[in-house]
Amino acid sequence: MALLRRRLKVVVMVMMFNLFIFILISRNSSQDKSGRNKVRVPTKRFWAKIKPNNAFWNRRQQVLDLQQNPILIFNDSTAERPDWLNDTGLNSDPCQPDLRVTTQVKDYNSLPGRFKDFLLYMRCRSYPLLVDQPHVCQEDPPFLLLAVKSLASHFDRRQAIRQSWGRAGTLANRTVATVFLLGNATPFDHHPDLSEMLRYESKRHRDIVQWDYRDSFFNLTVKEVLFQEWVQTRCPGARYIFKGDDDVFVNTHRILDFLKGLSGPKARDLFVGDVITNAGPHRDKKVKYFIPDTMYVGTYPPYAGGGGYLYSGDMAARLYNVSEQVPLYPIDDVYTGMCLRKLGLAPEKHKGFRTFDIEEKYRSNPCAYKSLMLVHPRTPQEMIQIWTWLSDPDLNCQ
Ligand SMILES: *[C@@H]1O[C@H](CO)[C@@H](O)[C@H](O)[C@H]1NC(C)=O
Ligand SMILES: *[C@@H]1O[C@H](CO)[C@@H](O)[C@H](O)[C@H]1NC(C)=O
Ligand SMILES: *[C@@H]1O[C@H](CO)[C@@H](O)[C@H](O)[C@H]1NC(C)=O
Ligand SMILES: *[C@@H]1O[C@H](CO)[C@@H](O)[C@H](O)[C@H]1NC(C)=O
Ligand SMILES: *[C@@H]1O[C@H](CO)[C@@H](O)[C@H](O)[C@H]1NC(C)=O
Repeated sequence: MALLRRRLKVVVMVMMFNLFIFILISRNSSQDKSGRNKVRVPTKRFWAKIKPNNAFWNRRQQVLDLQQNPILIFNDSTAERPDWLNDTGLNSDPCQPDLRVTTQVKDYNSLPGRFKDFLLYMRCRSYPLLVDQPHVCQEDPPFLLLAVKSLASHFDRRQAIRQSWGRAGTLANRTVATVFLLGNATPFDHHPDLSEMLRYESKRHRDIVQWDYRDSFFNLTVKEVLFQEWVQTRCPGARYIFKGDDDVFVNTHRILDFLKGLSGPKARDLFVGDVITNAGPHRDKKVKYFIPDTMYVGTYPPYAGGGGYLYSGDMAARLYNVSEQVPLYPIDDVYTGMCLRKLGLAPEKHKGFRTFDIEEKYRSNPCAYKSLMLVHPRTPQEMIQIWTWLSDPDLNCQ
């Protein structure tokens, strides 16, 4: 009996609580009826005006974003266009030195020369092709295209790659093609004239792609956008692309094995490498990767270290499409990360990519390389040595 009474008490309490809530809600909605929830149609602009960023690159990105803004694109009126957008030289030739940067970047005059060179030509994305290899993809688009960033003088590295991991042809029943990406070693930088030797090399191996721009560290991003365009015009059928440096060892066997297991969206959206997250610009002037805060502020998006990464032909097309919307940045792998971010994507980390090398005690152990895709750095001799180990059918790593 006591139990029943207690239950009844609980039920009554719950009902009273519900009634209380009901009264509360109906009071509120009757207030709404008195006109507080009318749809309001804004009569004026209801978004805040964007303030120009103090850092030059960020400001250039704001300009590009505004130019892509669908609301502003379809409205001829310049009323919404911030004044500071006028000064962007939209109509001038992007490949003429952009002298406005000398005043637009606050500390321009005190910056190291490489920054001045970069800033003056930051808007230029097209340079003439000096040496091309249209045959690489003409008959049969490769399953895997290996694109190696090299410098004119690195003859031995290219030859070691041809004799080892970059051997073009058929491997594990898949077509592999290799191209070396070069700019120009200009007399301006006191480079000896190697053009005769390059011409011979190119005729002999038919794997050199060269553009007429100064091949410097800060111009590696130029190499990236020129290569993106080259893939779209010369090799759009490549299923997968590896892009990397000429001082890495790539385990092409392992890469083909990994790709064999991919299908569907995983294959289409592939972008893997040694991914660096939560990094930002170095502010120490002595570091190779130093970037002043007048040039860039903020963290970097996740990016795959430029030593080498692997992506699909489909991603290559999307990157090419989006890169016009991202201003060039002097560090090429960060730039590619910025393009991925613009697509709403991020590269995926794969522990087979070792751009910071493996532990020293494993470096001369053939089996240490078996399950890896990339190790950095390796000399030409080491590349050939490791490839010989891995190609030995008797190599037994259980
Ligand atoms: C374009 O912008 C002007 C000024 O803000 C505005 O009066 C006009 O209605 C806009 N036109 C369109 C099609 O959005
Ligand atoms: C920018 O252009 C607009 C319209 O053409 C003009 O009204 C404005 O004065 C210009 N601003 C500057 C800073 O030149
Ligand atoms: C080799 O590849 C071709 C086409 O990709 C396929 O038709 C053939 O079955 C493959 N052969 C072997 C042994 O896997
Ligand atoms: C990049 O290449 C262009 C064309 O050769 C050159 O004018 C510019 O100075 C180079 N930039 C850097 C940072 O070397
Ligand atoms: C690239 O852009 C063009 C034109 O906007 C579009 O037709 C095409 O589908 C895009 N390609 C990819 C892969 O996003």
